[in-house]
Amino acid sequence: MLQLSNVESYYGGIQALKGVDIVVDEGEIVTLIGSNGAGKSTTLKSISGLVKIKAGSIVYKGMEISNKPAHETTLLGIAHVPEGRRIFPKLSVKENLRMGAFSVKDKQVVQERMERVFHYFPKLKDRIEQKGGTMSGGEQQMLAMGRALMLQPNLLMLDEPSMGLAPIIVEQIFEIIKELNREGITILLVEQNAYQALQIAHRGYVIQTGEIKLQGNGSDLIKNEEVREAYLA
Ligand SMILES: Nc1ncnc2c1ncn2[C@@H]1O[C@H](COP(=O)(O)OP(=O)(O)OP(=O)(O)O)[C@@H](O)[C@H]1O
Ligand SMILES: [Mg+2]
Repeated sequence: MLQLSNVESYYGGIQALKGVDIVVDEGEIVTLIGSNGAGKSTTLKSISGLVKIKAGSIVYKGMEISNKPAHETTLLGIAHVPEGRRIFPKLSVKENLRMGAFSVKDKQVVQERMERVFHYFPKLKDRIEQKGGTMSGGEQQMLAMGRALMLQPNLLMLDEPSMGLAPIIVEQIFEIIKELNREGITILLVEQNAYQALQIAHRGYVIQTGEIKLQGNGSDLIKNEEVREAYLA
């Protein structure tokens, strides 16, 4: 479904990705783990088109998508839930969700998709008129994911969905990620919470200073000595 080959990305003169190779097959949960500043978010931004790539290629469903702007990758079915959630704080839950389906004109379809989101996140339905910015961290994460689901994406990219959340909420979020995947959505999950991410992932990649250092099955990486020392200590 998605193939990154030798991707290089820069911020000005700083090289953040130094030739990244990642494959995501349809139906998989793939996780990308690594420490602060390793290049996880930059990888997702390079895919969704928020950061330009200087070299390499990104192929999605057989189509070269490198350096396509973000609104185009969105329309191709790639949803990116950024680090830190970035919901619209002054808009209500309902309005935030509507923004997710900006390309859909049919009100009936928007309504159906919203009901689908409420199936995963019943709490959002209870809070439908509440302003996004007044929700708890966990609720905002659910709203950010709900907004992405309004696109009915084929590929859902999540950047540190567990960040700053209580263990019980993290548990819920990871359960929902598994459920979304069972229902056919391919997932690319960026996490610092390596243990939990590797537990739900089919495969994982470890990125270090802009380079992929290790890759393998989720269960193999959990057992890997290097991974244990660096990320699961
Ligand atoms: N807007 C920016 N301008 C300049 N440098 C940046 C910018 N964003 C990221 N970088 C640099 O690019 C590198 C990769 O950053 P990136 O945000 O992808 O890391 P990350 O793995 O997501 O880290 P974290 O776990 O802290 O979110 C880092 O060295 C970072 O300092
Ligand atoms: Mg990041």
